Amino acid sequence: MVKKASLVILISGSGSNLQAIIDAVENDQLNAEIKTVISNQVSAKGLDRASKANITTHVIDHRSYHSRENFDHAMIQAIDMANPDLVILAGFMRILSRTFIEHYKDRLINIHPSLLPRYKGLNTHQLVLDNGDKVHGASVHYVGLELDSGPVVIQAEIPVLDSDTAQTLASRVLIEEHKIYPIAIKMHIDGRIRLEDGQLLLDDNPLTVPLLWKEGKLISHR
Ligand code: GRF
Repeated sequence: MVKKASLVILISGSGSNLQAIIDAVENDQLNAEIKTVISNQVSAKGLDRASKANITTHVIDHRSYHSRENFDHAMIQAIDMANPDLVILAGFMRILSRTFIEHYKDRLINIHPSLLPRYKGLNTHQLVLDNGDKVHGASVHYVGLELDSGPVVIQAEIPVLDSDTAQTLASRVLIEEHKIYPIAIKMHIDGRIRLEDGQLLLDDNPLTVPLLWKEGKLISHR
């Protein structure tokens, strides 16, 4: 039996992606143990999800720290106690410092509700509607130094319907997020996907275009 990967998951809110990862661990899709869930918000619903699954939780409230560096230092201390193979941002709504990002180089992953590089930052669903885009989606990426940057592993794509609002788009994208995040995490912990000198590799070959998840299927290349 291959050793289980150690995961640390950072959240700020609902934690539906956290739940998808908990479920994937519980049904053995992921050979992993979620060592701890850390939230910067004491009221995050995701904390209840973690507790229900008997996962240790920590609240590190950013408002108790004078600077981003001090906050990130406290986070690093808590995270490193778990010696994680992968640090997973799952709706973690704080910008991270260069020190933090470099500390977890090649083992820090995020999910963002857009087809990156389109629509970094907030309000992605409304921006898709405002621009009349025909497709939308979500991206899982290793975390780079700029906001919502870094090599994209997999994207889920959905059509934008005439009847869509920002809310309907958000909920349809979220359903796809719950599918692609465990897939990307599995590829990382199984050693299939990795970063080497900034280059994304899949099964030791450069992956220059993200994997695509569409209509419930993984399509290797576009
Ligand atoms: C998701 O849309 C994710 O892409 C973004 O924040 C949201 C988190 O949702 N980064 P949840 O807390 O996982 O339900």
